[in-house]
Amino acid sequence: MTEILVFFDKRFVKQAIQELKLMLSGDYTIKSYISDSIIVVSTGMEYEDIAKNFLLSAPVFIDRVSELNEIIGVKDGYSALVDALHGIIEGAGKKAPKIEVLKEYANDQRHAKDIEVELGLALETREDIPNLKNPDIMLYVILKGDKAYVFMGDFRDAYGSALDHFRHRNMDAEVLENRISRAEFKVYEAVNYFGIKLEQGMRALDIGAAPGGWTRYLIKNGLRVVAIDAGNIDYAKMPKGIRMAIAPGENREAYNVEGIDILAASELEGRGKDYELLHIKELFGRIKLSTLVGLGPFDILCIDINIPAQEAAVIAAVCSEALKAKGKLILTLKMTDDNIERNVEKSKEALAATYDGIRVKKLPHDRKELTLFAIKI
Ligand SMILES: C[S@@+](CC[C@H](N)C(=O)[O-])C[C@H]1O[C@@H](n2cnc3c(N)ncnc32)[C@H](O)[C@@H]1O
Repeated sequence: MTEILVFFDKRFVKQAIQELKLMLSGDYTIKSYISDSIIVVSTGMEYEDIAKNFLLSAPVFIDRVSELNEIIGVKDGYSALVDALHGIIEGAGKKAPKIEVLKEYANDQRHAKDIEVELGLALETREDIPNLKNPDIMLYVILKGDKAYVFMGDFRDAYGSALDHFRHRNMDAEVLENRISRAEFKVYEAVNYFGIKLEQGMRALDIGAAPGGWTRYLIKNGLRVVAIDAGNIDYAKMPKGIRMAIAPGENREAYNVEGIDILAASELEGRGKDYELLHIKELFGRIKLSTLVGLGPFDILCIDINIPAQEAAVIAAVCSEALKAKGKLILTLKMTDDNIERNVEKSKEALAATYDGIRVKKLPHDRKELTLFAIKI
């Protein structure tokens, strides 16, 4: 019997369990719930096979599965836990661990960070010298009540899905410090998860761009962006020294912001390349497709509009005309009802004629939404 921890987002528990069932060929028993997004499951399958299935099936809703190494009682302190951690480190032939603690209704009232320090100091006395920057082994401890669940980091930590359950520590430091909106983490995660290359001089069309998080991230990574949104963009937070312009829609105001050009709709033709940020301050539905095509062609199309998934997919299909061949699409699919599978299928159908390589993933910062990636045919 193998015991594993399964991590998912509680908003998609039904879909995650369905994926788990397939991944483990129906051979599983849920042993306990650590929280509403982490469960302990036992199965007759070997962990290596589970890990292989995880990679092959590329689950949309399961963030991660990890072999559960130990469950240790911590009612009377952490010495048995330190013994167990030391045993795992020694067994793996490693010397420089990093310990991450997650508290789930733990009896210990201290901050997880303080507990990490205590564990680290205790390990030092056993000659395991914690190394927070370049650890040779990652060990995760989930404290629930008076029990500690221990597991090791592995191949998926490059993406950091375990860390997302562990106080979001894998967040890019620059985004954390300079972001305009929480949404910016979504584009950061999409770029990393789908392996999208952002290169100097590329061009992006960002639809539903306000207040400008995705736009800022793209510009910071060397792209020039045409941003579409009737709402306001936080121009002051854009990278310093960039050229910006606003093209207000009919009857819409563009406040005169110093250093930002104001363009009339009739002046837009061919101007997309002149600015790092060109904001068309208008609803998507009121902009002619020919205008967008004329501003292109774009390398990347980003769509993060708060409308039902299928409708956003139709916009992505229509706007594919403004994308270069092999251009990339990042599209958030908002789940406005509980027909998750159907919404995803319908969205894929809407895209099938213009895109291939379609992949969907519930990324850590997605709320009741999924992120879709595709390549223009
Ligand atoms: C989730 S927010 C986008 C956040 C943005 N990606 C960021 O990083 O800051 C959704 C945006 O879609 C915009 N929106 C909704 N319907 C739209 C439409 N028909 N055309 C253009 N933008 C629209 C809203 O004004 C809102 O700013």
